[in-house]
Amino acid sequence: MRTFLLVVVSAFLTLAQAPLALAAEPDAFAAAKRLGRGINLGNALEAPSEGEWGVTLKPEYFAAIKDAGFDSIRLPVRWSAHAQKDAPYTLDPKFCERVDWALDQATQQGLVVILNMHHYDEIYQDLSHAPRFAAMWKQIAARYRDRPDTVYFEFLNEPHTKLTDEAWSKLFAEVLREVRRTNPTRPVVVGPSQWNSIHNLSKFTLPEDDQHLIATFHYYLPFQFTHQGASWAQGSDAWKGRKWPQSPEEQAALAKDFATAAQWSKEHHRPLLLGEFGAYSAADMDSRVRWTNAVAREAEKHGFPWAYWEFCSGFGAFDPQSNQWRAPLLKALIP
Ligand code: GLC
Repeated sequence: MRTFLLVVVSAFLTLAQAPLALAAEPDAFAAAKRLGRGINLGNALEAPSEGEWGVTLKPEYFAAIKDAGFDSIRLPVRWSAHAQKDAPYTLDPKFCERVDWALDQATQQGLVVILNMHHYDEIYQDLSHAPRFAAMWKQIAARYRDRPDTVYFEFLNEPHTKLTDEAWSKLFAEVLREVRRTNPTRPVVVGPSQWNSIHNLSKFTLPEDDQHLIATFHYYLPFQFTHQGASWAQGSDAWKGRKWPQSPEEQAALAKDFATAAQWSKEHHRPLLLGEFGAYSAADMDSRVRWTNAVAREAEKHGFPWAYWEFCSGFGAFDPQSNQWRAPLLKALIP
């Protein structure tokens, strides 16, 4: 009898607590969880024009990503190269149709997709671009308002320079207010300044009343390892040959960084996405594999979804010549 009573009482307590627990967890956590393991379809739509950086999207790419076991795609897009320079800053309809197609492909494959704005180089240097930025997002938001809730927005990749955490937090809140008119609950991804640095999470502020935000950071440390030989990283030729043996010190530095991020997430009740990480192809494959595996596992340890940078270009996990995954890299991502 006593046992029976105990079971009944504990079952009642569990049931009574369940709605509370659900209510206490903003659904951004569920939205973040759905991102799971992802990959950036980089160097395609965020090139000055598609193909210019060697990547033209194909339907097979979306299928290959799904088949390999990924849950999501981050789609970088250079909207600023496809909008009028002056008000009303109309987006090029042909280009929009291409983005529509990419979103369709992802959705048809059952992949969650983060639609972002990438390489708006002018706004990082000059805040007078803010109205154009807002106008582009107003159009994007209206265009995709009826898309399924598996399409997420990310307003701007890696804010930096003039977009300090203070300036960016303010601009983000303004544009969010506008986007929320057409997309009241769509998950929106946003990261801090200094190129979405993990160390800037504590420096930017998010609108308290919006519970559909997923915070993001990018991770490329040690930079001299991940960016050796990368033409866009100044002085990177001198870093060539640097390995990542996963020494106890290296592993500890990684663990410390991610623990700091997890602490921020807990304190602010915001889910976190590792939106980019990867090691460039100039590094040796064994080190890349060790680093990629270590970073992905560290993210998973803390429950952070992640998106590898990137699919089939300089960091590529997929070889577009042979149409094959680079098996060791894929295994590092999805063991
Ligand atoms: C950022 C840049 C992208 C670069 C990557 C790795 O996302 O926008 O162009 O390839 O980081 O450096």
